[in-house]
Amino acid sequence: MTGEMEGRENLSDETMDLERARKSLCEELEAINWYQERIEATKDGELKKLLEHNRDEEKEHAAMLIEYIRKKDEVQNKMFEEHD
Ligand SMILES: [Fe+2]
Repeated sequence: MTGEMEGRENLSDETMDLERARKSLCEELEAINWYQERIEATKDGELKKLLEHNRDEEKEHAAMLIEYIRKKDEVQNKMFEEHD
């Protein structure tokens, strides 16, 4: 699914906030991948350490968003507990 969804003016505040959180989570995960690629590409040890630190901060941000989503989306939370 791509692009903006329809009828956004009819969406509840809860739906909009969950969408914001999910989009933010996507961006944090993407950032982790970007940092990891740069970590593996650079030959500069100082830059590598800095990027590793930043990558791990993005992991923390992702975890915070997952926690928020679990708190606000009952079904999603259940899936964390019940998946195979
Ligand atoms: Fe972040």
